[in-house]
Amino acid sequence: MTQDEAKRLVAKRAAELVEDGTVVGLGTGSTATLFIRELAARKLKIRCVASSDASHELGLSLGMEMHTLAELPALDVYIDGADEVCVAGGGLNLIKGGGGALLREKIVASAAREFIVVADSTKLVEVLGKFPLPVEIIQMALPLVEPKLAELGFTPRLRQKKDASGPYVTDEGNYILDCWSTGIAEPESTAAEIRSIIGVVEHGLFLGMATLALVAGEDGVKEYRG
Ligand code: A5P
Repeated sequence: MTQDEAKRLVAKRAAELVEDGTVVGLGTGSTATLFIRELAARKLKIRCVASSDASHELGLSLGMEMHTLAELPALDVYIDGADEVCVAGGGLNLIKGGGGALLREKIVASAAREFIVVADSTKLVEVLGKFPLPVEIIQMALPLVEPKLAELGFTPRLRQKKDASGPYVTDEGNYILDCWSTGIAEPESTAAEIRSIIGVVEHGLFLGMATLALVAGEDGVKEYRG
């Protein structure tokens, strides 16, 4: 099974879990996009809140009923992809933000009763951190935050736009530092240290937030509960 086939399989499975009448948070990224398309095809009576402008626009284009958090501050379920999924130790810990939407993703996820993460099996890791951790920062704080992240042992790189025309800017107008490391052995304490740096808006460690992970691979879709 290719990675794309696995993404499609897990996206379909997640769409099947959504019930009529619910308020659904729509994630961001390639797996979330497949999920949104599958969900739209089911033509359920649901109301949705998206975690990025791109997913909001996609939902509208597919005829879905899109809202803001101001209109619907309590969601039944948030469904999104991840860059890394760690199930070691019984919990569900993630790295997210490869697509640049980590801040809104964390906000929308925090508003949901359930958070289902959808991933292909290449995203499963024993220890988080092979994927560079995205950290969203205030633009003017770049020269202060960068050395502080380096002091924590990361090698931060300012994310650039795909067309190389300058730094990538998030939906909320911030920069992203992609922080390379040899692995994040203590994610809770690392998350607290990053958060304490003035100028950091949010980081891509989603610790203990997901309630269910659906992971697709050669053996079909496996479930891991948080
Ligand atoms: C978007 O900011 C991310 O958190 C995505 O959920 C994550 O990068 C996974 O994306 P893919 O589904 O495209 O791999």
